[in-house]
Amino acid sequence: MSQNSIHILPQNVANQIAAGEVVQRPSSVVKELLENAIDAGATKLDLHIFLAGKQNIILIDNGFGMSKEDANLCFERHATSKIKTTEDIFHITTNGFRGEALAAISAVSQVKLITKRKEDKHGICIENQGGKIIHTTEVPAEVGTEIQVQNLFYNVPARRNFLKSDAIEFRHILDEFHRVALSFPEVEMNLFHNQSKILTLANQNLAYRIKQIFGVKMEKSLVPIAEKTELIQVEGYIGKPLVAKKNRGEQFFLVNQRFIKSPYLHKAVTSAFENILPSGYHPSYFLHLTLDPSKIDINLHPSKTEIKFEDDFAVFSILRSAIKYALGQFHVAPSLDFEQIPEVTFFLEQDQETQQIKGFQWQNKYLVTPKNQHLVLINQHRAHQRIIFEELKQNLEKNSLSQRLAFPIEIELNALDLSIFEEIKPYLISLGFDFNLNETSLEISALPVEIKAENVPKIFEEIFSSRDEFENLDLQTHLLKNIAKASAIKNGTKLNDSEIIRIIRLLFELEDYTYSPFGKPIFTTLDLLDIQNKLS
Ligand SMILES: Nc1ncnc2c1ncn2[C@@H]1O[C@H](COP(=O)(O)OP(=O)(O)OP(=O)(O)O)[C@@H](O)[C@H]1O
Ligand SMILES: [Mg+2]
Repeated sequence: MSQNSIHILPQNVANQIAAGEVVQRPSSVVKELLENAIDAGATKLDLHIFLAGKQNIILIDNGFGMSKEDANLCFERHATSKIKTTEDIFHITTNGFRGEALAAISAVSQVKLITKRKEDKHGICIENQGGKIIHTTEVPAEVGTEIQVQNLFYNVPARRNFLKSDAIEFRHILDEFHRVALSFPEVEMNLFHNQSKILTLANQNLAYRIKQIFGVKMEKSLVPIAEKTELIQVEGYIGKPLVAKKNRGEQFFLVNQRFIKSPYLHKAVTSAFENILPSGYHPSYFLHLTLDPSKIDINLHPSKTEIKFEDDFAVFSILRSAIKYALGQFHVAPSLDFEQIPEVTFFLEQDQETQQIKGFQWQNKYLVTPKNQHLVLINQHRAHQRIIFEELKQNLEKNSLSQRLAFPIEIELNALDLSIFEEIKPYLISLGFDFNLNETSLEISALPVEIKAENVPKIFEEIFSSRDEFENLDLQTHLLKNIAKASAIKNGTKLNDSEIIRIIRLLFELEDYTYSPFGKPIFTTLDLLDIQNKLS
């Protein structure tokens, strides 16, 4: 290979390379233009898309516009009116601040900009091709800015070929439009595609905007969130389990009115929904987080959708508890809508004659019991898991009852097990376990009452083998789930009559008897009416 000498890349090549980070597809342009318009104080935005943005993207705003000098400068790299010093990066209150969006966009498209300020007599129109201004004229114009981005990637065919179908590209545009629309519900926003009206959003509050975008069903299921601490204010809505989705819900974190992606905060929300949603379902949420801009860093990636909080753990905890509180306040219980679990009300609590519960075991797996107008078929393993889980949870809250073992049980520990054990030790003690730790083994001498000694090795095996889950912050729930799993009666185990009745009774005495701790449905029912219909 021949040795090439070093040379500085021509400006247009350098700009095209840099553009790659900001502009990946038409929706990236839409995002940047919308953000600029909002930063310019616009209260009304009209977005016109042609051929999913591959042909033309036009945004018209009624913001404060630009002077002639600024309009000429705005396409330069690092041209921004939003920050001046490095210090300013830590007090960002605008969407943009990097001064690179228009430079990037114009490097890979043909841009026309028309802009006018209130104090100017004429507007100015600038045409830019591939990053070079080719024409400037004075024009009559309204106050505000109109920007047209035509033939995106016309000069980077490889990029253009990478674009997906119109349907997919438009879906991305819609996503960006939704994000800004939810961040700024007070801004009037209209979207057109190939001249058809797609969305018209008037100046609204957040709930109304959610309804306009996601429909009445979503709006009806919204639970408000409102929490204010010294560090952060959390406002907005979460969707009840009814509108949870299998393929991820509608999920929006808007930090200081900027849409951000945060797996960490997402976990805070999902962990608050734990045991309320069946596994595999995702909650919807629309959450505005407001905090001092100096407590966050948004300058992690050119797309500005990643964020670092100075105190991420505090934000996590506040968010999680705000959601848990709201779920409790609004009595959000596990939805009965999933997996066709019918709504059944059981009146066992008023039922004084518990002996009268009838039940039998079928296939060594299902407990069958008549209730009201239904025949209830219960999965014995899942039911027992839920019962043990709830009992253990109570143990943690009250003083736990322990049973001493006549013969201590020994469990071998390797180094990894030992480190996990150190973490869970305090919980085990509150649950009612007692033990002696030797160098390579654990000697268990007491257990919570509802746990059988024979299940102890299995419990610890389950705990240690699920160590990945222990990275999850809610250590306690994971511990309880795994103990419940290992100690619950297995499917395939034959039960005697009193065991059958005991499980049925205990299950329906619980507040939460629909799902196992792992989110699986516990029972299904056969309806009297259905049976009558079938036999008619
Ligand atoms: N719609 C608009 N109305 C008024 N001024 C605008 C508009 N769009 C851009 N500008 C001006 O042009 C400048 C450059 O815009 P550009 O988007 O390239 O950079 P930025 O918004 O400052 O930072 P970032 O690259 O992070 O978006 C802005 O700082 C702003 O002064
Ligand atoms: Mg910008």
